[in-house]
Amino acid sequence: MDEPGSAEFDTIVAERTSALEGDVRIGGAKNSVLKLMAACLLAEGRHVLTNVPDISDVSLMCELLEAMGVTVTRADHRLVVDVPAELNTEAPYHLVERIRASIVVLGPLLGRFGTARVALPGGDDFGPRPIDMHLRALESLGATFSTAHGDISATAAVLRGTEVVLEYPSVGATENLLMAAVCAKGRTLIVNPAREPEIGDLIEFLNRMGAHVAWTGDRLAVDGVERLAPAGSGDGYAVIPDRIEAATFLAAVGMCGGSVFLRHAVAEHMAMLIRKLTDMGMHIVASEAGLRATATQRLISADVSTLPYPGLATDYMPFLVSMLTTASGVGIVTENIFTGRFRYIDELRRMGADIRTEGHHAVVRGAERLSGAPVRAHDIRAGAALVVAGLAAEGETEVAGADHIDRGYEDLAGKLAGLGAAISRR
Ligand code: EPU
Repeated sequence: MDEPGSAEFDTIVAERTSALEGDVRIGGAKNSVLKLMAACLLAEGRHVLTNVPDISDVSLMCELLEAMGVTVTRADHRLVVDVPAELNTEAPYHLVERIRASIVVLGPLLGRFGTARVALPGGDDFGPRPIDMHLRALESLGATFSTAHGDISATAAVLRGTEVVLEYPSVGATENLLMAAVCAKGRTLIVNPAREPEIGDLIEFLNRMGAHVAWTGDRLAVDGVERLAPAGSGDGYAVIPDRIEAATFLAAVGMCGGSVFLRHAVAEHMAMLIRKLTDMGMHIVASEAGLRATATQRLISADVSTLPYPGLATDYMPFLVSMLTTASGVGIVTENIFTGRFRYIDELRRMGADIRTEGHHAVVRGAERLSGAPVRAHDIRAGAALVVAGLAAEGETEVAGADHIDRGYEDLAGKLAGLGAAISRR
């Protein structure tokens, strides 16, 4: 029989849900675990990661590591990564094109082996996805690059620490640079690094492997070491909770009403979002164990603009736009990170949303009701945002392309159903 996630179960059907109630477990962060898996390449031996979400991007990253000669075993949200002394330092196109985050193997391969060959990732539904900042940063440490036949080949006889200024705090460029710099000779000072919570998780993991990475003010100082060792032995290293999955459930509560406890969600990772949702009329209370989110009235519109952390994450934007479609008033939305990331708006319009776009701005006029329609998920977050919007729409919303959602969510439909949502997977 086909399992959810196969082509036979490619659609999530959501129906209007009046209130969500209960408790939902927020899993490990996709955008952290993928980088921690790449970091394992830095040291021979057995690495153990826990709180690993059961999502298809993790499966793809496992395939990539296995293609390099790593042995990966996965069960019960636990990943055992056995890294041999020698690795095949190539990341082939058929895997890279399926998971763009795979570009983060470049830094660790260069750091440990001084050589790497990685297929160039193409564009995607967000528009072009350049890696120029990754390459410039690694060049500053002494790496040289050449491209041929769609692959980028990197070599470095020796990597030497230096001051590296990132013109923009790119998450991926910071990660690649960090994972090369931990093995470089001397000190690397990263000026204008990304500061997302997932970067903090990577730094913690690298330091547990024996690296010396520390914040000096808003810069990162990396003192290179000769050798790293596996971090997560024994109980393993627990991946931080996924703030974007948490945002998805906050949006669902905001649109449907009700009161839900988001177990393990970390308020300090999402302070700006909590402030915005409070402005919009939600009541959110943080505790050690998680977040309680309550919505008792129609939301109030607000203007929203994405920025690098600690600003409002671009990954929250599709949820915020969904929420604005039924809020009272008009919200002006500005997407500053991925300026081509508005494709889902055409799908929301099919559901009766009143949204006008101009470049990377959108004006969203809240309607009393959305109207369920067949729509398509073009990427992970947009797909999840359409599902959430479907819970607030009259009739049925069929979200096709649910395999995109599976890349970043462990059983989104099942978790929402557990809170009382009228939702199923077909
Ligand atoms: N950019 C460049 N040159 C570069 C690198 C980035 O111009 O060399 C630009 C990008 O085109 C974009 C901006 O800089 O306009 C931000 O890119 P960044 O490098 O910060 O993002 P990323 O590392 O490619 C990660 C997450 C994204 C998340 C962004 C921003 C992973 C696997 N992906 O991407 O998450 O939106 O940071 O926070 O960590 C998702 O989870 O669905 C997702 C897309």
